[in-house]
Amino acid sequence: MTDPLFQPITIGTLELPNRIVMAPMGQGNAVGGIPDAGYPDYYARRAEGGVGLIVSGATAIGHPNAAFDVNEPHFHGAALDVWAESAKAVHAAGGRIIPQIGHVGLQGMAPVAPPWPGMGPSGVWLPGAQLGQPSGPERIEGAPMTLADIDAVIASFAEAAADAQRLGFDGVEIHGAHGFLIDQFLWARTNRREDAYGQDRTRFAADVIAAVRAAVGPDFPIAMRFSQFKMTDYAARLADTPDALAELLRPLVDAGVDFFDCSLRRFWRAEFPGSNLNLAGWIKQLSGRPTIAGGGIGLEKTALEYGAEGVYAHVADPSVAHLDDVRDRLDRGEFDLIALGRSILGDAAWPAKVRAGQHHDLKPYRPELLAGLN
Ligand SMILES: Cc1cc2nc3c(=O)[nH]c(=O)nc-3n(C[C@H](O)[C@H](O)[C@H](O)COP(=O)(O)O)c2cc1C
Repeated sequence: MTDPLFQPITIGTLELPNRIVMAPMGQGNAVGGIPDAGYPDYYARRAEGGVGLIVSGATAIGHPNAAFDVNEPHFHGAALDVWAESAKAVHAAGGRIIPQIGHVGLQGMAPVAPPWPGMGPSGVWLPGAQLGQPSGPERIEGAPMTLADIDAVIASFAEAAADAQRLGFDGVEIHGAHGFLIDQFLWARTNRREDAYGQDRTRFAADVIAAVRAAVGPDFPIAMRFSQFKMTDYAARLADTPDALAELLRPLVDAGVDFFDCSLRRFWRAEFPGSNLNLAGWIKQLSGRPTIAGGGIGLEKTALEYGAEGVYAHVADPSVAHLDDVRDRLDRGEFDLIALGRSILGDAAWPAKVRAGQHHDLKPYRPELLAGLN
């Protein structure tokens, strides 16, 4: 029987040998924004391990307020040399890689908050008491972005995407999720603007995507990372109904998104009542674009939490317990690809081992792995 995890797929000009994506995971190791010299090998090891597509960890576009903290890699200036090497190393190992480009907006968080001022649609930020906890009282941080600020950020996104293309990447992913700047525009609680960017909260995202599309031409693949939740508030939602979600997605698709990288935290969770479809399933259906589903795949602790809410699994052992569910969903066409985060940090050879049935050999994820580039 053919394993749906290992079926090839083509999305526009992007030809992928299987359905397994390395989820974007920012790991720092980029003092002053320059990625550590170990980045190319770190990503090449995942390509050698059989992952079909690598999405780099979040990078900061070349706008002064874009980075999450002082250790987030830049995607501009001197940092581009290491990124060019990374793309080359992944290609030499037979893989594909796209960078995730983003702007943090107001979300630089203590204790790693950047020493530069935050910037957001309305200057309103709702920090959670801790990661993922419900939003606390709102904070006013800085002035609302001016139209000149907005234009500058849009231009920086376009430049980063053009650089990705020039350096030989296989596409680009725009970070529109997790409470970063684009998501701050999409969310009513952080976007209180009364101008065109507030009357239509999708306008900023659509303008960024359109500028990126104009910069890279019609054939260069553009993904957008999308989530309902924020890093600071796992219960936050952009759309409470399929209709609201459809309305939100339409301008993004029209502006040029080729596929959506959906961040679910728990892939099995139904997004709306009355259907088992997860968010990636709904986005595929409503947007007509292929989707990636990621969150909790291959992790035992998460598997134990199956169907229930639980704490973020800081230690997570490998498991294949729910892979048949994932395969069924792929088979049914609920979504097209899966993203592995912690599983692929734990074991770079996860795809090759799963393909060979060597489940007992899978190495676990441990938070200590984040200290370096393993
Ligand atoms: C260390 C770490 C860093 C992450 N950094 C990013 C990031 O830069 N951009 C992003 O969109 N998601 C980021 N995420 C979220 C992952 O892409 C993924 O959605 C999440 O880990 C859930 O998948 P998993 O259960 O397979 O780990 C990060 C996750 C981890 C564990």
